[in-house]
Amino acid sequence: MATNHGVGSSNLSGRAINVITHLPLAMLVAYSVRIPRTYSGIMRFLSIFVLLALVVMVPNPALAWSQNGHEIVCDLAFRQLTPAARNLLFKVHDKKGPFYKSCHWADEVRYDNFKGTYNYHFLNVADGEDELDFARDCAALDCVTIAIQRYATILAREPQSSRDEENRGDALRFLAHFVADLHQPLHVSHRKDRGGNDITVTWLDTSNKRNLHGIWDTTILSESGARSVALAMPLLTRIQNMDVSMWRTFDIVGWTAETYQLAEMVAYTHENGTRVITGDNLPLPYFERARPIVEQQIMKASVRLAYLINQIAAGNLPRNMLVLNSPGNIDGRIRVE
Ligand code: ADE
Ligand code: ZN
Ligand code: ZN
Repeated sequence: MATNHGVGSSNLSGRAINVITHLPLAMLVAYSVRIPRTYSGIMRFLSIFVLLALVVMVPNPALAWSQNGHEIVCDLAFRQLTPAARNLLFKVHDKKGPFYKSCHWADEVRYDNFKGTYNYHFLNVADGEDELDFARDCAALDCVTIAIQRYATILAREPQSSRDEENRGDALRFLAHFVADLHQPLHVSHRKDRGGNDITVTWLDTSNKRNLHGIWDTTILSESGARSVALAMPLLTRIQNMDVSMWRTFDIVGWTAETYQLAEMVAYTHENGTRVITGDNLPLPYFERARPIVEQQIMKASVRLAYLINQIAAGNLPRNMLVLNSPGNIDGRIRVE
């Protein structure tokens, strides 16, 4: 899971959910190796049990929109593809099942074969700075903005080998994931609080603690009613009834600046203009301001993802989108063979 915050778990803090959902699992595993009768057997049993319990209690930073958010962006994007783009997608999307089901994969592989992609899920503004300075804050070319350009480049290249074919499948899944992540306001935010992961607040009328990042990854979208791909269909109708042409650009740095502005103005700021800090409560007016932003960002991400894939399929990716001379592996892959 990318995040500690599950849909429908609105009264529990992230860590509590981890323990509540994983502790029975740990007990099951421990019991399934049979309760021992000797002293050393009992000690081994207890140490395995304690270790498993400790592992599940360590809070992991929320990394992305919830699985639900990623699935919604991809499903909406798929419905906006041209026939040529659908052909491209069917050619490179080798995984079983609908495309949207593969859009959360990037969060699952960031700890193994694709360790090099960990930083690609976000962009952090340097400590002590208020303004986003792209050259400074993505100097290592390892942020979400560059990742989008990198995977668009791989997808746009004619494959020369079976390895290239495989990379294109991965590139499509990464591209789809990172375009969505770039539109989560707290994925373009401050290093000092790790995009709100280190800001602990209470939500609406509850007294349970949760982190600000998780609220933006998961809670706002699910509480707005879009708890599944099917329930998000009204967003497609809204896209179809709006003029979204101004969202269709190749200016990924511009998209990044837009997201940062929303982080500053809405995610990090109360209705009365004060800064959200640890210990604060986020009341209903905060949700009412956040909800249309989250819905707009989900719609925008889907429009832009579809635009990129449509343009790539038509051979129209502009040269300034290409990232060919990146340091290290172009695909961020660190093979563990
Ligand atoms: N980890 C560190 N900074 C982060 C951010 N801005 N978003 C998600 N995960 C992070
Ligand atoms: Zn992510
Ligand atoms: Zn996140």
